[in-house]
Amino acid sequence: MIGIVYATRHGSTAKIAKVINAYIGDCRLMNLKEIDHLVLAQCDTIVLGMPVYNGKLDRDMVDYINHNQAFLIGKNYSIYITALFFSEFMHYVTEEFNYDILKNVKVIAGLGGAIYYPDLSIGEKARLSLLNSVTRIVPKEHNATIYENFNDEEIRIFAQKIKRIDDAAQ
Ligand SMILES: Cc1cc2nc3c(=O)[nH]c(=O)nc-3n(C[C@H](O)[C@H](O)[C@H](O)COP(=O)(O)O)c2cc1C
Repeated sequence: MIGIVYATRHGSTAKIAKVINAYIGDCRLMNLKEIDHLVLAQCDTIVLGMPVYNGKLDRDMVDYINHNQAFLIGKNYSIYITALFFSEFMHYVTEEFNYDILKNVKVIAGLGGAIYYPDLSIGEKARLSLLNSVTRIVPKEHNATIYENFNDEEIRIFAQKIKRIDDAAQ
């Protein structure tokens, strides 16, 4: 069985989890905030999805992975990163996880991200505007609206790899 655990503030990491499940079928999807430990313990394959905010991976997910290292190493676990600068995903990951976690991970991928601007808090809007002035993270024409920059092909390949890993575990 495949479990997909995701952390999300505005829904795009959850959206990617749903797309992965659409490719594979029959995965158990869980928000990290409502994790079902009994169900997860029955999964041979675990996918952990997390967004990047202000150059850092989601703190709750990083803490969950670091505190449950032994449990995860007993499973086939993979990681996907939701971020607009998704090509930087290895940089975010190596900053947070130790060698044992990185050595045992099956697949790591950066799968793109999205900005649902109307849903952002005032603080997030201010930080995004600062980030935009330095990096142009969101193209000008998408300012103050919805901007989806999911890497559809990478999502499909990631799902395919996860399915193969889980099939091999049966
Ligand atoms: C305030 C703010 C800061 C962000 N910082 C980064 C960043 O440093 N690097 C990056 O690649 N994406 C950054 N993003 C984009 C998020 O990673 C992207 O919106 C992601 O899809 C959010 O996932 P979620 O909807 O699951 O919370 C930022 C977005 C916001 C709103």
